[in-house]
Amino acid sequence: MASLILFLTLVIHLEIVLVVDVIKGEPLVPALFAFGDSIVDVGNNNYLATVAKANFFPYGRDFVSHSPTGRFSNGKVVSDYTSELFGFPSYQPAYLSLTTKGNNLLNGVNFGSAGSGYYEFTAKKYQVLTLSQQLNYYKDYQKELVKIAGQSTALSIIYGSIYFVISGSADFALNYYTSPVLQTIYTPYQFSDILLQNYFNFIQDLYALGARKIAVSTLPPIEKLLQKFPKLRLIILDTYQSLYKLITKPSDYGFFESRRACCGTGLLEVAIFCNRISVGTCTNASEYVFWDSFHPTEATNKYLIDYLAPTLISFIQT
Ligand SMILES: *[C@@H]1O[C@H](CO)[C@@H](O)[C@H](O)[C@H]1NC(C)=O
Repeated sequence: MASLILFLTLVIHLEIVLVVDVIKGEPLVPALFAFGDSIVDVGNNNYLATVAKANFFPYGRDFVSHSPTGRFSNGKVVSDYTSELFGFPSYQPAYLSLTTKGNNLLNGVNFGSAGSGYYEFTAKKYQVLTLSQQLNYYKDYQKELVKIAGQSTALSIIYGSIYFVISGSADFALNYYTSPVLQTIYTPYQFSDILLQNYFNFIQDLYALGARKIAVSTLPPIEKLLQKFPKLRLIILDTYQSLYKLITKPSDYGFFESRRACCGTGLLEVAIFCNRISVGTCTNASEYVFWDSFHPTEATNKYLIDYLAPTLISFIQT
């Protein structure tokens, strides 16, 4: 089970991420938006009736506040590191956490929801935000932004910002491979085709709403999209190679353990099963590649970001 999960995590899941060079002055992009799953979720699921939550100890124990926030890691997640990389003074907030909507919208917001995927039923099954719901919230966001910043500033934020779309891992790991029904209806290839179609649709919808620079996690051919939308700039954040190296030779990269996760026995604990009373949780998560059986440690997120930083920086400058 654990090795299957690690394998899925390796192959399908992790794809993204960033670094922590402190850049002084103005952020490099007007705003940052994140859509997708637990790799970028910074607490939206805290506001939903779902089991896909991470707002309890030991999640967040190494975060800035040393407390759980809903992030699926011991510390910062990919979206936080991206935010630091681009020089934002604070992390983009979880959209559902905003009780007031004012200037806190100006640097962008985060719509990520753990358990979400390109197959809408994945999110519905876990009662989390589907990608269409995330997009609907983004439409609401735009209306609020116009009220706060005025039409022309709002447009320059919308067109000039970077959009992270990190999704797809949950579709296989939490849905297809755990659903005998889906496996009966579709072969893995047919299921992939459905995901791909939904992925195209999502990018098209986002484009129609003004997004021009979109960073996506690894998923196949994008030529079709680029032909259709010449103004679209799309980057695929493929950390497969670097993560693979991390898992096969952890000690070369300052890690000690890549097979077992830090939380509990490190073999199957995730979400509610990774908790305060989990037995065996490691003391120093920085030595581990995985925090729980699905999600990377903060140290891994940072490593991946360091690896992607030059690509991301040159992407936003073009
Ligand atoms: C935790 O592990 C990291 C990586 O091996 C190391 O740099 C750090 O000093 C350790 N922290 C403690 C408190 O032992």
